Amino acid sequence: MFTQEKDYFLFSTATTSLVLHVNEVGKLVCEYYGSRISSLEEAPSLTSPHPFIQGTSLAYDEKHQNVSLDYLHNEFSTPGKGDFHAPSLVLSEGQEVVFDFVYDSFEVKTPEKIPGLPTPHGAKEEVVITCLEKARKAKLRLHYLVYEEEDVIGRYLEIVNENEAVLSVHKAASLQLCLLNHGDSLVSLYGAWANELNPEEAPLRHGRFLNESMSGLSSNRHNPFFLIKEKGGDAQHGACYGFNLVYSGNHQESVELDTFEVVTIQSGISPFLFKKDLAKEEHFYTPMAVMSYSKEGTNGLSLHYQDFVNDCVIPSVWKGRIRPIVYNNWEATMFSFNKAKLTSLMKEASALGIELFVLDDGWFGERNDDRHGLGDWECNTKKIPGGLASLSKEAKKLGLKFGIWMEPEMVNKASKCYQAHPDWIIHDGVHEPTEGRHQYLLDLRKKEVQDFVYASVSNVLNSADISYLKWDCNRMMSDFPEGYTSFFYDDVVGLYSVLERLVEDFPNVLFENCASGGNRFDLGMLSYFPQSWLSDDTDSFQRLTIQAGAAYGYPLSVMSNHVAAKTSNQLLRLTSLDSKFDVASFGVLGYELDLNDLTPLDKKIIQGQIAYYKEHRPLFQFGHRYQLASFKEGNDEAVEILAKDEAIVGRYEKLQKPSPEEARLTAVGLDEKSHYLYQSRPESLSMKKFGHLVNMASPIHLKEEGFLINTISARHDLASEVEKGMASGTALLSGGVALAQEWSGVGYSSEVRLVGDFGGRLYALKKR
Ligand code: GLA
Repeated sequence: MFTQEKDYFLFSTATTSLVLHVNEVGKLVCEYYGSRISSLEEAPSLTSPHPFIQGTSLAYDEKHQNVSLDYLHNEFSTPGKGDFHAPSLVLSEGQEVVFDFVYDSFEVKTPEKIPGLPTPHGAKEEVVITCLEKARKAKLRLHYLVYEEEDVIGRYLEIVNENEAVLSVHKAASLQLCLLNHGDSLVSLYGAWANELNPEEAPLRHGRFLNESMSGLSSNRHNPFFLIKEKGGDAQHGACYGFNLVYSGNHQESVELDTFEVVTIQSGISPFLFKKDLAKEEHFYTPMAVMSYSKEGTNGLSLHYQDFVNDCVIPSVWKGRIRPIVYNNWEATMFSFNKAKLTSLMKEASALGIELFVLDDGWFGERNDDRHGLGDWECNTKKIPGGLASLSKEAKKLGLKFGIWMEPEMVNKASKCYQAHPDWIIHDGVHEPTEGRHQYLLDLRKKEVQDFVYASVSNVLNSADISYLKWDCNRMMSDFPEGYTSFFYDDVVGLYSVLERLVEDFPNVLFENCASGGNRFDLGMLSYFPQSWLSDDTDSFQRLTIQAGAAYGYPLSVMSNHVAAKTSNQLLRLTSLDSKFDVASFGVLGYELDLNDLTPLDKKIIQGQIAYYKEHRPLFQFGHRYQLASFKEGNDEAVEILAKDEAIVGRYEKLQKPSPEEARLTAVGLDEKSHYLYQSRPESLSMKKFGHLVNMASPIHLKEEGFLINTISARHDLASEVEKGMASGTALLSGGVALAQEWSGVGYSSEVRLVGDFGGRLYALKKR
């Protein structure tokens, strides 16, 4: 909702409001951002009154001796007029760099798509505030969009040159917001390959903190999402401000705390090697930054972003649409497979209740290792006689849908594509190009490259009955042919133009975003692809941390996770299939292990998991996710997903302790006045888990790791504890319900909880 009175603008969502003001010198400043207010009179002014200019600060001009841009909560900052914060907007015209934009007008209009860039949908109106730099004939248009029900406000900039001289944009942060510091801390998400999205919290310090990607991709190093948390806040309580950017390339988030205890926050494209020249009448558009506020802690803030991504970011056709349970052959076979192997995997997958079979890397050209074939998107019929069409038919016969992996933005030198078009790769023409996984990036600024990528993907999709495509991107950018241009930006816009055509032409193909896992996990990619392979790390305990990081700003529906082999590829950590399911089920579930190697017991376990997932699927994929406890703080992690009358709580243990403390099942968001049936998901306890202790119950002696125990435990297991009962909402919300005593050296029975190192349990709650 938007209202305007005199020089004030009030933007309101369901629970938040933003107040902007045009001050006496025509500067656009933020007066308030926080809980919803119903009228401008209620707005507590944020801007401190400054009747005089202190010390070394500068007056705006001779007439306005009491106005210093350094004290204002500016909606954007430019250098050279006394605002000594890091500028959010840096422009030049020839050698001139001082730009003094002042308010001119505003208009309210129907939201439009940002040219070339993904644009969230669902805003009712768009408010455009225009500021002018008269001396240089430059126009700055600030676009504000309100996503009312989701409690998100979006902003992007449009810069217009109306002068004969070239106007250069050096930096243009999409958003700047000034807040007062209340002992705030900053939570950002850093990482690396297979270790993405680690949340890190640190108190704000005077000076400036930058969270930035300069790799060409939004990157696994620093996700564009971050939040500011007021002192004393936690997952359920306290004021939090969140920020994200709808963009997939280089980005920069800046948090500056000044001596007046003002926090200046910026979110936008990175100024690294950036410069965009605008000729007369040319426009430049930044991506949209999206901010939200909650007084209900980091979970409260997360719910806003969960709704925003589900309702306004992912393509509308996928909104609330149930996602299939996939099988992916990558960790099972890597490049080494043939049609017989794939068919045997399909048969097993179908018998287990899996719904879609994904053929990963290695099916095309000479792709028998990662040195060959990228760019040659034709099926290798030596490996797969009859091609993809015949494989998709096999799948169909078995009741499975069929999906495929592609990495369309890349080429290997050993490919027909590169041999025909060596000039298509990104290279500076001077140095030997830097290699990443033996491959090179195609230059997506070129129209012929965009057409090639579009044609490659659409030909594959048309060649067989394909309903899913995993779009990978396995290297960072290097060897830029140009610096101090809009190279990085134009490359991302080139990619978006291809994605736009593809999702429009294939609306019912489920695209899954992937970039060596989470190297390009952002709102830009999610605008086209409704789900994302979060990480190449399929170790369930590493995955849990990655999910927790993602959950600060993204919903369950975008998190694709797979149950992999018991021994993790990445860490060699051994965990049970059930522990893996307890983590992988929080989001979109899949399996990625050699199904031909499963024991009869493994198959029974997986069938049980799939049945359980199908029973609760809308909750797992579209429920609201709450973080209840985190390994960051202790030995236990707990996560809840909630929708209307039901919830599932996942509880996880890092390391088992002797003489452990009591445990309780607690939840949030339930109805205090109602009662809930709660029930643990039965898990399988392997006999081998007991080692030599199994002899205390066995009629014959079983040697630990011996042939007999291996044979028996391939078919038989022990049941986990049974926890079932009725509890009031009040009890679950406050003290919690006591869980069974934990195993401590003795006493295995149906009343003893044996979770163990890196173990988990799921508890379903249903309102009566
Ligand atoms: C990347 C992906 C993996 C897999 C391989 C195939 O690493 O993240 O899931 O698809 O590529 O080469």
